[in-house]
Amino acid sequence: MESNFVTIEFEALPQNQGFARAIAASYAASLDPTMEELTEIKTAVSEAVSNAVIHGYGRKGTGTITMELKTIDGDKIYMKITDHGKGIEDIKRAMEPMFSTEEDREMSGMGFTVMESFVDKVFVESAPGEGTAVTLIKYLDVYHGV
Ligand SMILES: Nc1ncnc2c1ncn2[C@@H]1O[C@H](COP(=O)(O)OP(=O)(O)OP(=O)(O)O)[C@@H](O)[C@H]1O
Ligand SMILES: [Mg+2]
Repeated sequence: MESNFVTIEFEALPQNQGFARAIAASYAASLDPTMEELTEIKTAVSEAVSNAVIHGYGRKGTGTITMELKTIDGDKIYMKITDHGKGIEDIKRAMEPMFSTEEDREMSGMGFTVMESFVDKVFVESAPGEGTAVTLIKYLDVYHGV
């Protein structure tokens, strides 16, 4: 069962990383997440959006990013971040820890690893010259126990 569908589209500018992060957190807030789950959702979304801005569009800001949000079975949050930038040549390699195509070494190549450790499922679809879509699914622990 899927419900409560939200889609936002924004320009690929660095300041929108914080915006997307806040939108995802505020969407998730209605499902009563723990503080830890909220932080994990925000961090994973930030990594995906930052990749779209930096790698997808090469920091030029000339393009848009879409974020789709939905709720699955009342306790899983589906977040899909799509860009229409340069795409990824080798997805498997890109997802390896410490792999980065940025040569100046200011990037650690840990974005996908962070996403994989903070949410339950990460799916990447990409084609060179067409863009990239990263789907993140977070399972919430709905029973906080007393
Ligand atoms: N949206 C995207 N479009 C094009 N290439 C991407 C995209 N997302 C990731 N990549 C490619 O995958 C590589 C690995 O991404 P990852 O987020 O793991 O590391 P990074 O962004 O290089 O460094 P870090 O996230 O640690 O700052 C990137 O260096 C880039 O080549
Ligand atoms: Mg990254």
